[in-house]
Amino acid sequence: MIGVLGSGIGGLTVVRELIKQLPEYDLIYLGDTARAPYGDKSPETVTRWALRNTGFLLNKGATLLVTACNTISSIASETVSKRYDLPVFEVITPGVERALSYSKKLMIGVIGTRTTIESGIYEEKIKQMSPEAKVYSMACPLLVPLVEEGWIKKPETTMIIKKYLHPLKVKQVDTLILGSTHYVRIKKIIQVKIGKRVNIVDTSEPVAAKVEGFLKDNKETERNLGKNGRYRFFVSDLTERDQKLAASIVKRNILLEKGEN
Ligand code: DGL
Repeated sequence: MIGVLGSGIGGLTVVRELIKQLPEYDLIYLGDTARAPYGDKSPETVTRWALRNTGFLLNKGATLLVTACNTISSIASETVSKRYDLPVFEVITPGVERALSYSKKLMIGVIGTRTTIESGIYEEKIKQMSPEAKVYSMACPLLVPLVEEGWIKKPETTMIIKKYLHPLKVKQVDTLILGSTHYVRIKKIIQVKIGKRVNIVDTSEPVAAKVEGFLKDNKETERNLGKNGRYRFFVSDLTERDQKLAASIVKRNILLEKGEN
């Protein structure tokens, strides 16, 4: 089973892409809605929660893990993959690879939660793969709550996005990485505000492609994944609001179940 770990329901944007690219594989999701948002928590706390939640997914039968949250990916993926014996896919590297393949001027902007941006992981990975690249990062802590409130088309949200993106626009980035799973929901407004010539990179598609490529090359792992197209969605705190938001993200009638707490 493919295990997918999110901080809340934002990780479902990655699930949607996994289901699109790999529909036959059984999948189990855990969104830690009881503790989210992770994006303003310390690295120690994010790591502790990520380890514990991975244990939950393993107990439910996950044999491959996608950390479908930029905050978890930037802080805890390495520790998780050292602690547990299963392949772990984080969302940062595929996003960076995609951004570098798009960018002509190597002027890359990154937006994300405060914890992700302060980790410096995007800058580190971009520079590792392309030392001459220039990276401009901006923490956008107000965007996750706006998305979760469904304020996607409100003028206030557009104004806040414009304010956050202004410094990156001034630097004339030619590629912008959406370094939070939530931002996919406001991608269109981000595109308008950063400018239509800027390439926008949403990490959900490249991470799903990465898993697909891995499964082609690793037949034993592939054989051990169930292929009945069964999906289960757990959350550590279950509310009506999350249920509605989850269905609208995955774009199918999914049922959230109460899991680990
Ligand atoms: N999904 C998280 C991320 O991608 C943002 C939400 C949170 O702060 O928990 O960074």
